[in-house]
Amino acid sequence: MDTTVPTVGTPEIRDSTDPIDTLPSSFRWGVATSAYQIEGAYDEDGRTPSIWDTYCRTPGMVHDGDNGDVACDHYHRMPEDVELIRSLGVDTYRFSVAWPRVQPGGRGPVNHAGLAFYDRLVDELLGKGIDPWVTLYHWDLPQELEDEGGWPVRDTAYRFADYAMLVFDQLKDRVNTWTTLNEPWCSAMLGYGNGRQAPGRQDMPAAISAVHHLLLGHGLATQRMRAAAPKPIELGITLNMGTSEPATDSELDIAAARRADGLGVRIYMDPLVHGRYPADVVEDLAARGIRIPVRPGDLSVISAPIDVLGVNFYSGHVFSGLDENGKDRDSDGNPIERSIPQGHPVTAMGWEIVPQEFTKLLVRLSKDYPGLPMVITENGAAFEDEPDAAGFVRDFDRVDYFNTHIGAVARARQAGADVRGYFAWSLLDNFEWSYGYEKRFGIVRVDYDTQVRTPKQSALWYRDTIKRVRGH
Ligand code: NOJ
Repeated sequence: MDTTVPTVGTPEIRDSTDPIDTLPSSFRWGVATSAYQIEGAYDEDGRTPSIWDTYCRTPGMVHDGDNGDVACDHYHRMPEDVELIRSLGVDTYRFSVAWPRVQPGGRGPVNHAGLAFYDRLVDELLGKGIDPWVTLYHWDLPQELEDEGGWPVRDTAYRFADYAMLVFDQLKDRVNTWTTLNEPWCSAMLGYGNGRQAPGRQDMPAAISAVHHLLLGHGLATQRMRAAAPKPIELGITLNMGTSEPATDSELDIAAARRADGLGVRIYMDPLVHGRYPADVVEDLAARGIRIPVRPGDLSVISAPIDVLGVNFYSGHVFSGLDENGKDRDSDGNPIERSIPQGHPVTAMGWEIVPQEFTKLLVRLSKDYPGLPMVITENGAAFEDEPDAAGFVRDFDRVDYFNTHIGAVARARQAGADVRGYFAWSLLDNFEWSYGYEKRFGIVRVDYDTQVRTPKQSALWYRDTIKRVRGH
């Protein structure tokens, strides 16, 4: 299959004051994916089911009953996908390792056949001059561990650290950059809080326990990896964060925005950086009868120093403390946080396009949590792509999204935020979780009938932009 990026004209949509041109030539550029979203091969070489295999098989949970059984068949097409990455001119590829491939069932010895895939992937990348960036957990918890209680159970944190070491010991000689968890907010809140993601539970106290045990797992793995590192490594965690603004200056709206920020940003960032949970969040939870299950010593584990904060940004939100009927409490007596659309253009996910909020978030993080270098480990958009007869997508909407958001990163840097790199989400169209294959985030189109990959206009734009910035 031909994976060469064509050279059809990339539109000139920048002007001489383009902030992207202020990015340094040393800026790190990449593309990102995750295991369950692209690999397929769900039952090969000893892999056992994860919570996502189970969730997909639960009727009504995923659009069209889609699942990751085949996905982009990356497990079998890895070398050609790496060649595709090389043709984009990025320096780094961020991918995740599937826990149920490497340690089936989530405990016990390593499964060499499963780990061998990542071994080959790393070698393939290095052979093409691309830096591997490993994410250890991108949501695919082994089902057996969920059967024993999942992330709300403390033992899962220890299981995660053991698994992390299996991968680390095998790849540490060749991989320098490691992310423990991807978006623990989604694992906890969507997985255990509102059930919109696997494992699909709806239990807020369980979700808050999950938050703590995810953070504990991160800290335990961080400490052990650091101690076992043969050379200095770059270690961190990736959080999805946005801005939370009040809809008006009413006390109710201000409190709603504060609570949203508390559970979206500070409940992760404060323990990671400052070694404590925010007092207002603890109080809000206590008012709902929820306690964070902290044990003595946990917070010093969680705040083990990291080298890089991964930031995933997709949108920002404005909150009201009142529901549609003007009530400030829901039927359970809990205070309302209702996101109010601001009339901005939206992506195919319905997410408002607000690059200015991206700048605001990064500047805020750099002020509230100083001294922590950041990398944008994900940013991108789904749009209604329309391929031509050759499968080529002129996705100028996506080009514009990247252009304005990378510009927003550059502006944040100008305002003092220490952002060192940017990863486009995603390399390929892929399995978009409960939205199945309907939503396409790729800069490369995947025809799921033939598995043919065709770089979109946005891939060409991204390649050309990287080249231009590097050439400074
Ligand atoms: C963040 C997640 O890490 C990724 O898996 C997902 O596809 C994108 N957001 C888009 O929703």
